[in-house]
Amino acid sequence: MCGIVAYIGHREAYPILIKGLKRLEYRGYDSAGIALLNGNLNIYKCKGKVADLENIVAGKNITGSLGMGHTRWATHGEPNDTNSHPHISQSGDIAIIHNGIIENYATLKEELSQRGHEFTSDTDTEVLAHLIEDIKNNTHTSLEEAVRLALHEVIGAYAIVIISKNDPTKLIGARKGSPLVVGIGDNEYFMASDATPIIEYTRNVTYLNDGEIAFIKDGKLSIKTIQNVEKTPYIEKLEMNLETIEKGGYEHFMLKEIHEQPRSIYDSLRGRFDPINCTFAMRSLKEFETKIKNLKRIIIVGCGTSWHAGLVGEYLFEDIARIPVEVEYASEFRYRNPVINEDDLVIAISQSGETADTLAAIELAKEKGATIFGLCNVVGSSIPRASHAGAYTHAGPEIGVASTKAFTAQVAVLTLWAFGFAHLRGKASKQDLRNAFAELEAIPAKVEKTLEREAQIIEIAKLFSETNNALYLGRGYGFPVALEGALKLKEISYIHAEGYPAAEMKHGPIALIDEAMPVVVIATKSSIYEKVISNIQEVKARKGKIIAIVTEGDNKVRKMADYVIEIPETKEYLEPLVATIPLQLLSYYVAIQRGCNVDQPRNLAKSVTVE
Ligand code: AGP
Ligand code: GLU
Repeated sequence: MCGIVAYIGHREAYPILIKGLKRLEYRGYDSAGIALLNGNLNIYKCKGKVADLENIVAGKNITGSLGMGHTRWATHGEPNDTNSHPHISQSGDIAIIHNGIIENYATLKEELSQRGHEFTSDTDTEVLAHLIEDIKNNTHTSLEEAVRLALHEVIGAYAIVIISKNDPTKLIGARKGSPLVVGIGDNEYFMASDATPIIEYTRNVTYLNDGEIAFIKDGKLSIKTIQNVEKTPYIEKLEMNLETIEKGGYEHFMLKEIHEQPRSIYDSLRGRFDPINCTFAMRSLKEFETKIKNLKRIIIVGCGTSWHAGLVGEYLFEDIARIPVEVEYASEFRYRNPVINEDDLVIAISQSGETADTLAAIELAKEKGATIFGLCNVVGSSIPRASHAGAYTHAGPEIGVASTKAFTAQVAVLTLWAFGFAHLRGKASKQDLRNAFAELEAIPAKVEKTLEREAQIIEIAKLFSETNNALYLGRGYGFPVALEGALKLKEISYIHAEGYPAAEMKHGPIALIDEAMPVVVIATKSSIYEKVISNIQEVKARKGKIIAIVTEGDNKVRKMADYVIEIPETKEYLEPLVATIPLQLLSYYVAIQRGCNVDQPRNLAKSVTVE
């Protein structure tokens, strides 16, 4: 989710806001906007970059010492001028900016529309501005009390800032699930998504906790919970430098994004299923129910890591929904004159939503009459716009070139689709769904637990400091994980790593094994665990150095492998969501040891928009 910055004090707000939004640029975004209060509430916003925003305000009234700015990472409503923030209430007197997702916005919007509210955007955020004003007018209460009452009705995640034309001495911020920090200066206050826009003005900050609301009123700061309990602000001194803050305290974006996965997986699942009633809330399942029920084949297209997620998708759809699947490298698919039928469903997987080969592949499929689902991380990017339906992964901006949280978010959504398709086709009962939902809800905590192996993985990474080759082996759901682990190592440490189906070793690659070859094996408890054990023994017999990813408590592999990394037990079909984590960390620490540029590896781009 993107960026928020706000100011109230004795200075002109505009320069602080614009500079603050630029400080937040590293978070990636698709549009930007500001609101300034100087008697009037002046709002300037547009699709594009902060520089585009500066262009549209040229010559406009940008005075005022109360204001707020926003960089948007769209989740509801594609990136365009209207959907950009700030959004205003029905009267236009209240303005709001928001990072996060309001899950129940549609219900609230319907209720407000019935009470005469008219909306201009497709966003969830605009609904909150109207709700606050609706409550304020109906309860004849203060702005801050209206905000507090409105947040009681909101389900979802938010960091919000509100200003009002009628309350020129008030600045209100609140958070639940998305970060918001308050800067305390000398007769001036700041609010922002992180401390980067604040640090040059003051190092005194207080980080809001979930469920808290910060009120600046007549030059004073107070904090309350949404339950109306007063809180004493805990003021701390910022010690970090700017660059460290940008990366959330991590040394690289990739490491930050690896550690964000408990949250990004949760966000990718959030609001998409109801574990009580065992129902789904995915438009793609609803709008294409008949198509899904009669489907004869799914074709999955993607590149790189997204192709690996597609391979997990093949195993999921065939295993759970019993639908034949083909996974295609988009660059091959588009040129090999493939057979595509009108009743095919093509799923295009892409973090950026801009990969040229993947976009071309779905254009070809569309020409042949196939239905296209997009699975992307960037709202309003080219691939979702070219698709008939789909889902966003809601993983938040992925800045590191090596894809990590996008992969697990893609797999999470594919898992939901597999069960959704299975249920529509009578292959999964309500009880099957109940079990699957419970297992999925447990994944973020299992990923969190796996991340705790970091220190051990740093040690194991030392094994790779001199090597130029490595093998990654897996079977079943572990095979795509092996491919993804090998790609991660390849692309950021420049070691030639290959992922292989473990049983394929004896058909050639085993000739490569010697004591200098690290062999990473996905050896978690699964229906083919004993088969993987045999493959480990084959490698052991040739003196290969074995690093095994095992299920917690495993004591069989431990006796054969040189190193074991334990991960929590999961259902076999959920293994890729957890077993990939140690491989991401391993590749990161090997690359660090080898002095590689982790976030911008040589020869690579984050989005390959050319053939
Ligand atoms: C993955 O770590 C690489 N950066 C690369 O393989 C990437 O997955 C591929 O270029 C596809 O990108 P997309 O998901 O944005 O389409
Ligand atoms: N859900 C809001 C929108 O789509 C906020 C997105 C964000 O976090 O930037 O506009």
